[in-house]
Amino acid sequence: MKEKVLIVEGGYAEHRPGPVMPGFEGIIGKSHLLLNVFDNIIQVAPTDTSILILGESGTGKEMIAGCIHKLSLRKDQRFVKLNCAAIPPTLIESELFGHEKGAFTGAFDKRIGRFEQAAKGTIFLDEIGEMPLELQAKLLHVLQDKEVDRIGSKAPVKIDVRVIAATNRNLEKEVADGRFRLDLYYRLNVIPITLPPLRDRKEDIIDLAEYFIDRYNRKSGRKIAGLSDRAIKSMMAYHWPGNIRELEHMIERCVLLAKGPIIEDIPVNPKNDQGAGNPETQIKTIQENERDHIIAVLRKCNGKIWGPGAAAEILNLPPTTLRSKMKKLGIQKGY
Ligand SMILES: Nc1ncnc2c1ncn2[C@@H]1O[C@H](COP(=O)(O)OP(=O)(O)OP(=O)(O)O)[C@@H](O)[C@H]1O
Ligand SMILES: [Mg+2]
Repeated sequence: MKEKVLIVEGGYAEHRPGPVMPGFEGIIGKSHLLLNVFDNIIQVAPTDTSILILGESGTGKEMIAGCIHKLSLRKDQRFVKLNCAAIPPTLIESELFGHEKGAFTGAFDKRIGRFEQAAKGTIFLDEIGEMPLELQAKLLHVLQDKEVDRIGSKAPVKIDVRVIAATNRNLEKEVADGRFRLDLYYRLNVIPITLPPLRDRKEDIIDLAEYFIDRYNRKSGRKIAGLSDRAIKSMMAYHWPGNIRELEHMIERCVLLAKGPIIEDIPVNPKNDQGAGNPETQIKTIQENERDHIIAVLRKCNGKIWGPGAAAEILNLPPTTLRSKMKKLGIQKGY
C-alpha cells in the first residue's frame, strides 16, 4: 500500500507554514479556537490592562505572552520574564522588587528587581499560581499603587509596567483552597485569555507536526519528508496531555530515529490517554515508569515540589530538575 506523504514537492526544506497573522509569527495553527484567541489578543494587546493567560501545560502560554508584548504600544521597550516556579520562594521577592545593599544577609550589592528592569515595558509573571501568599499581597500593592518597594529601601519607586501573568492552575480552585488571594485574582483576571488544549483543536496537529519536522530536519540535517497514514492516525487519536510541547518532543524524537524517508510510526503512549487498554498487560518503558513514580510521589506530597518533605527532596532532585522532568514527561497539575 502506498503511504501518504504530507509534503512531496521540495520536501520539508521548502516547507513554510501557511500565511501567518502579523504579530503571531511562529504560532502555528488555524483552528477556530486558536483564531479566536488571536482576535482577543489583537483587541487587548494595545491597552495597558493586566492579562491573565490560562491553559494547560504546553499550550503555548509563554509564546502568546511574547506576542501580546510585540503587539502592544510597549513593543520597543523591554519584555522581562520571571518564572515563579523556577526560583525558590524565598528569592522571588528580591527578584521581583530588588533590594538595597545590606538589606539582608548576603545582599552584598544593590539589586534592581525585574519590575524596575521592565520599566515602560512588560513583565511576564509565569506560573503565577506558584507565588507564595505573602508575596501575592506585595504584588497586589504594586499593581494597585504602581510602585515597588525594594527590600531594605525607605522610599518606594514609581513604576510603569504592564503585567501579563500565566498559570496552568485553576486559580478559582486555588482561591477556594486558600492558596491564592481573591483580590489579586480579580485584579489579574480583568482580561483572561484561555489557550485551548491540543485535543480540542486537532485540526492543528498536522500543521504543527509539519512545522516541527521542518525545524528538527534543519537542526539535525535529516530530510524527513512526512508522516505515514498510520502515524497520522495515531496522532489524531491521541489525547496529548502534554499538548504542543509533548507533540514537539515526540516529533523531535521521531525525526532523529526515523529509519526511512518518512515517519512510519508515532509511538504515543496510550496509557497517557483516556480509555486506555488494560494496564496489567502493558509493558512500561523506563520513561513511563519514571512518570508514574514521579506522579505517585507528587500525590503523596499533595503536589508540593519545594521544601522539606516535598517531592523534590524525596526524589533527591533539585526542584528545577524535577519541574523540567515533569514538563518533559507531560505531568500536569491535577495528575
Ligand atoms: N502554536 C504553536 N506553534 C508552534 N509552537 C508552539 C505553539 N504553541 C506552543 N509551541 C511550542 O510548544 C512548547 C510549549 O510552549 P510554551 O512554553 O509557550 O507553553 P506553556 O503553555 O507556557 O507551557 P507550561 O505551562 O508548561 O509552561 C514550546 O516549545 C513552544 O515553542
Ligand atoms: Mg510556560
